[in-house]
Amino acid sequence: MIETIRKLAEAYGPSGREEDVHRIVLEELKNHIDGYKFDRVGNLIVWKDGKSGKKVMLDAHSDEIGLVVTNIDKNGFLRVETVGGVPPHPYVGQRVKFPQCTGIVYVEGETSQDMKKNFSNLSFDVMYVDIGASSYEEAQKVAPIGTFGVYDSRFMQNGDFLTSKAMDDRVGCAVVIEVLKRLNSPNNTVYCSFSTQEEIGLMGARVAGYDIMPEACIAIDVTASSDTPKAFKRHAMVLKKGPAIKVKDRASISDRKIVDKLIELAEESGIPYQMEVLTMGGTNAAAFQATASGIASATVSIPTRYVHTPSETVHLDDIKNCVNLLIEYVQKGV
Ligand code: CO
Ligand code: ZN
Repeated sequence: MIETIRKLAEAYGPSGREEDVHRIVLEELKNHIDGYKFDRVGNLIVWKDGKSGKKVMLDAHSDEIGLVVTNIDKNGFLRVETVGGVPPHPYVGQRVKFPQCTGIVYVEGETSQDMKKNFSNLSFDVMYVDIGASSYEEAQKVAPIGTFGVYDSRFMQNGDFLTSKAMDDRVGCAVVIEVLKRLNSPNNTVYCSFSTQEEIGLMGARVAGYDIMPEACIAIDVTASSDTPKAFKRHAMVLKKGPAIKVKDRASISDRKIVDKLIELAEESGIPYQMEVLTMGGTNAAAFQATASGIASATVSIPTRYVHTPSETVHLDDIKNCVNLLIEYVQKGV
């Protein structure tokens, strides 16, 4: 499973450019699904037929946060805008990978006072990208306006801690893949969406949910953990304590029946879990709830350190336990 996570997390897939990720997902799922399709907004939807006549859906978004080129100056330096919630700080001195080149992101300033001000009040307004071009024309050839980039960051393993630029939400994709691999003749028909453009506003999920209209839907995504020095003290989520059953974030309140069922199944099967209330953020569950005539939805999260940085870090135990819990749910939950 680690190799699958590595492949998915290292793939290039900013919002609206998820094709490489979908290709890897399909390779992994060969011989493990009964069918798949791409819809008009690029979502990859796969399914495995069940006997009960009921549909249950799992979702993981396939996109990651990124940057997009907005302007190029006469010396070939780029200006960029965020794609999703990209903090500027991790990008200082960091590299951004575009499909045809890689650039260095840094901060401008003509005086030391300027520099001090720009560093303390950091924003992409005062940052630029150096792709080793010497003119507008040279830059325009490899990174024209509208080119999308992602963190240039390698996968890393420290014991059972796994680190990568895009655990959000390729770890969710890997979890869904593993569930499908391990499900033999499922009771309910299982639909899984690897949905597009979550990071810019849950775009793909709205369409995927409307299309499938399952009995219940669970979004699998990352959540912030609070187990590092002086971490946010109103959050309880930590690594190694199991998947987090989300009660609420800023965008949705999980369906109560699904939450209760998940707890019941975890208790029954001795799967470790933790409860989550996140004071920020949102997941595709919010989009599923409010699509068509409404879908009962919830989120199960993988606690993650350093979300939206090049070093998003998760723990293998949480991933395995998340898979176990979801298998229980799709078999017995609806
Ligand atoms: Co995210
Ligand atoms: Zn996410």
